Amino acid sequence: MTIDILMIRSKNLSLLIVSLLLISCSDQQSPDNGKVESVPPTSITNLETIMTVGDIERGRKLYIQCRACHSLKPNETNRIGPSLYGIINQQAGSIEGYEYSEALKQSNVYWNLDNLDQWIEKPYEMIPGNKMVFSGMRKKQDRNDLIAYIIDKTAEIDNKKQL
Ligand code: HEC
Repeated sequence: MTIDILMIRSKNLSLLIVSLLLISCSDQQSPDNGKVESVPPTSITNLETIMTVGDIERGRKLYIQCRACHSLKPNETNRIGPSLYGIINQQAGSIEGYEYSEALKQSNVYWNLDNLDQWIEKPYEMIPGNKMVFSGMRKKQDRNDLIAYIIDKTAEIDNKKQL
């Protein structure tokens, strides 16, 4: 009797597996799938990932490239570029008293791990017409390290939780 039930269950189970397989096959043909694949596999989507893959110490050294133009401490004035203190989750182009380009002001971007990564890689491509003179940081690992450092230095505790 118990064996019978087990057999029925296992038949149901194989049916389930077959249907799951069918669903996942048909999924692969759906047009939406292309969109999912267009997200680079290396894109960082959460704080845990960045803090795991990013080397804060290395990031500190890489930040030298940004330091000439950006302060990173609370209450420090804007330099050639705006202060980057608390940049995560902040709307782009929103620091008072800093004169941004129209391109950045109208970008409607809220800084997160992903778009900050794109910005650092190729600022001129992410928001064309912006006035940050920086040719970009090509290596993914460098960007991970730099972003981990920036977050470690600047994100408010509340912002960190939302990431
Ligand atoms: C030569 C000076 C210069 C360097 C070097 C530079 N920036 Fe910038 N940055 C700017 C300027 C100027 C702006 C304002 C751009 C605009 O208004 O279009 C800016 C804007 C930004 C913004 C948007 C800020 C906001 O309030 O929306 C971020 C983020 C940023 N820079 C990050 C970086 C990082 C990270 C580095 C180092 C890899 C870096 N920048 C290197 C000058 C610089």
